[in-house]
Amino acid sequence: MTPDLFSDTDTAQPPRIEALGTQAWVLRGFALPWVEGVLAPLREVLKAAPFRRMVTPGGFTMSVALSNCGALGWTTDTHGYRYSPLDPRTGLPWPGLPIVIRELGIAAASAAGFADFDPDACLINRYLPGAKMSLHQDKNERDLEAPVVSVSLGLPAVFQFGGHARGDRPLRVPLLHGDVVVWGGVDRLRYHGVLPLAQGTHAVMGAQRINFTLRKAG
Ligand code: SIN
Ligand code: FE2
Repeated sequence: MTPDLFSDTDTAQPPRIEALGTQAWVLRGFALPWVEGVLAPLREVLKAAPFRRMVTPGGFTMSVALSNCGALGWTTDTHGYRYSPLDPRTGLPWPGLPIVIRELGIAAASAAGFADFDPDACLINRYLPGAKMSLHQDKNERDLEAPVVSVSLGLPAVFQFGGHARGDRPLRVPLLHGDVVVWGGVDRLRYHGVLPLAQGTHAVMGAQRINFTLRKAG
């Protein structure tokens, strides 16, 4: 009997691209080759604009700490959610969007079928164990079809990806270091969130999860 050269049972891998919707995808491990190049510029951004916990319009302090880079940064305070060119802590422009982060975002968008992605905003979220993000829609951007490109680093998390109504039962998607989620077009306004982060220590990132999301906001 001749061996079947085309059998892949010995090397079968889980699919590296998973559909969450018509225009929503998880790109497993997509960011892994970029991580080393991304960490140094990310550290520089965070030196200029350190993580801080912001207050929602409802008066709650978010469990996730955030920062931004790019021409526009997402902020919240008791007056509402908005994009601003200035860091409210310093009154200075947010640090520029590092080229390598921009290129990662464009490559992931393109792999998910969104050509010509031109991000101008990068929100950086830090989750320590216990931190979570409640279900919400991203709708402060001008173009509500351009994709959101969301990169996960560090500790694993459970991402919730729901429907167009808050009450729609969300999918539960485990996200690991290097995974990228991209959603846009008809799926752009789907509710999403992150369940409370479990305790742990990641070999590269330590006891935290860093998520950054690239968007065309202005
Ligand atoms: C977000 O919705 O801004 C964050 C999503 C995530 O942390 O994966
Ligand atoms: Fe979001």
